[in-house]
Amino acid sequence: MRKFKTIDDLDVSGKRVLVRCDLNAPMKDGRITDNTRLVRAAPTMKELIDKDATVIVISHMGRPQGTFVESMSLRPVAEELSKVLDRPVTFIEDCVGAKVEFALSCMPKGNVALLENLRFHPGEEMNAAGFAGGLAAFGDIYVGDAFSCAHRSHASIETIARLLPSVAGRLMQSEVSALAKALGNPQRPVAALVGGSKISTKLGVLENLTGKMNLLFLGGGMANTFLHAKGFNVGKSLCERDMADAARAIMESAEDKGCEIMLPKDAVTAPELIAGAECETTPVEDVAGDAMILDVGPATVGELSMRLSRFKTVVWNGPLGAFETPPFDAGTNARAVARMTANDGLNSIAGGGDTLAALANAGASGSMSYVSTAGGAFLQWLEGKELPGVAVLYE
Ligand code: 3PG
Repeated sequence: MRKFKTIDDLDVSGKRVLVRCDLNAPMKDGRITDNTRLVRAAPTMKELIDKDATVIVISHMGRPQGTFVESMSLRPVAEELSKVLDRPVTFIEDCVGAKVEFALSCMPKGNVALLENLRFHPGEEMNAAGFAGGLAAFGDIYVGDAFSCAHRSHASIETIARLLPSVAGRLMQSEVSALAKALGNPQRPVAALVGGSKISTKLGVLENLTGKMNLLFLGGGMANTFLHAKGFNVGKSLCERDMADAARAIMESAEDKGCEIMLPKDAVTAPELIAGAECETTPVEDVAGDAMILDVGPATVGELSMRLSRFKTVVWNGPLGAFETPPFDAGTNARAVARMTANDGLNSIAGGGDTLAALANAGASGSMSYVSTAGGAFLQWLEGKELPGVAVLYE
């Protein structure tokens, strides 16, 4: 495995260290509703502080498209970060320019600085050298710790890393090492569980996984497209009928590569997706014309659990059912994987989009071997793509 430099490789004492984090946390009415990304970013900051560095945190929030949008200010994040770090965080109202330098020079020793949303400046997403240079001017060292943004070729992710001595932070290290362990050279047999609504957004992921996995289990809405492609009636279920050929091509390619594709054998169905809907469990060959498939059935969960009990590694991306709406929120697969992780030494890695919410809903996120903070970056890694924000740290 390729290695990048880390905090261990540089003397940070007495230096100003710019740390690119992803503090793009969910917010409602100006308050953070889930501080997981802050908590996961904190160890790098704490370690740098302990090593007597001045920590300057840079991040984006939302997609303001190069202009100031008050609801996307990082100001509320500074308050929450201060609680997480248990030390004062000085919020600075911009991220480039003389005023920022002045605010940094006045900052009391021991405080952490958080600069305003990088994406308020168009140069960030344009990966502009001038903007990257403006950021780099504040620091002696750059720490890349935003794996979840590493798929973006942005100034604070890519270009800046070429302007300063650059190393990976602790979160970046753990994300890359967990994913490399699951996809690079995994302990076999290795399986992937992939759900979510559409195959059209995950064609690259499925194609790449068929070349790496021994078993690929498909659930969620995307499994309906595969069932339809195999000739099953999926009633009113979510199904990309125009992707039937693509689904057949993936099944053929999987067979050629020796990867078994497993689809649900039975399903929990209802006439519509509403909370408390009257539902029934049916084999997939008996789905009624007016029914929707909304979760995998117990026979599928049983068979999948039995199969996985012989596996050493599992990668999970995407919900396998309509987990936000009871009674389709049983999450029995998630709990089975969590149990095997705890009792049988299964290495389980989950990430991407709604996956974490689905696992949390099943009460299973704390029991996985590794839960990634990344959404889009996790998917691109599953596609086998090199992420610019990781690649630049190898240079
Ligand atoms: C994320 O939430 O996945 C990251 O913060 C990246 O955000 P983006 O998709 O807006 O670049």
